[in-house]
Amino acid sequence: MANEYKIAWVQNRLGLGQPLIDEQHQRLIELANAVLEGMLTGKPPQDMAQAVGRLLQYARSHFEFEESLMSRYGFPDRKRHAADHRRQLDQLQGMLDGLDQSSPATLEYVAAFLHDWVELHIRSEDRELASYLKNRDQKPE
Ligand SMILES: [Fe+2]
Ligand SMILES: [Fe+2]
Repeated sequence: MANEYKIAWVQNRLGLGQPLIDEQHQRLIELANAVLEGMLTGKPPQDMAQAVGRLLQYARSHFEFEESLMSRYGFPDRKRHAADHRRQLDQLQGMLDGLDQSSPATLEYVAAFLHDWVELHIRSEDRELASYLKNRDQKPE
């Protein structure tokens, strides 16, 4: 797979020190890379729909997990964080719907979206949540 499109897990850049959240992020990155790989190798639309569908499903359950931690531990910024999750699910759904249309999303568009997700969301929103949890000395179960 062409390296410029691949999302690499770099522990000191993306690791948040919350093992369950970190594991889920690694899995999300694997699924995102599978989507990119599929586009690069020209997989047929039904295979792409399956790969994006898997990513969407996993993202949904990961976001629910984070949101349950936010509620349980009274994370003050949870509304904004959850709104960001919803926006991302809408974008993934849009990507999935776009696979049926004559003008499929370009590799550049999908790569930019997936990189933004990792670079911006994990490194800002999720990092804030993880440090809040750490300061409360609470660990995800
Ligand atoms: Fe999040
Ligand atoms: Fe996350």
